[in-house]
Amino acid sequence: MDVFEAVQERRSIRSYQDKPVEREKMEKILEAGRLAPSAKNLEPWHFIAVTDAEKRKALSGGTWAKFLSQSPLVIVACGDKKASPDWYAIDVALAVENMVLTAVSEGLGTCCVGSFNEKGVKAALKVPENFEVLVMIAVGYPSGKLDLSSKLLNIVRTRKSLSEVASEEEFGKRLVPKKITEL
Ligand SMILES: Cc1cc2nc3c(=O)[nH]c(=O)nc-3n(C[C@H](O)[C@H](O)[C@H](O)COP(=O)(O)O)c2cc1C
Repeated sequence: MDVFEAVQERRSIRSYQDKPVEREKMEKILEAGRLAPSAKNLEPWHFIAVTDAEKRKALSGGTWAKFLSQSPLVIVACGDKKASPDWYAIDVALAVENMVLTAVSEGLGTCCVGSFNEKGVKAALKVPENFEVLVMIAVGYPSGKLDLSSKLLNIVRTRKSLSEVASEEEFGKRLVPKKITEL
């Protein structure tokens, strides 16, 4: 699968098979995060791979995060605010997308989760003060079942057109694509 195919295939998965993610695949996903670019190459990130059921339950307290307790692997992406105050968030975001696309290419499903109480997550996972928990990534083999939030979100799973989100030469000079994509 090439990168663009992974981009096209990826969608948020919120229901997983009761099957662990192989250690090899987990390490490959984390490696994809490690290799991401970062401003001044400061690598202001730390990724916590959580498989322990009790810990995953502790991470699933958010309204839109209940499925984390059933996700075989949760990767908690943290950014070092002190090491790179201006860029830590974008650096971590780049690492997260590297991990998500690598997971897709390995036949896994993912869902980014921002519905959590940061203080609680930091305490549960002993995250140092200078790190911010930015997002969690659920990872696992898709069950094929659609939970209620996915059903609702899939109904409205649209994307703006390319000419709405991209300009040529200056902001507002709409880019008119030769090829129109469906979604
Ligand atoms: C930063 C971020 C936070 C998100 N937080 C949640 C969340 O807390 N719970 C959830 O079910 N989905 C969450 N999502 C998934 C989005 O709802 C999803 O990406 C969006 O609806 C588009 O659907 P798609 O990913 O299938 O293309 C989050 C996505 C991102 C990028």
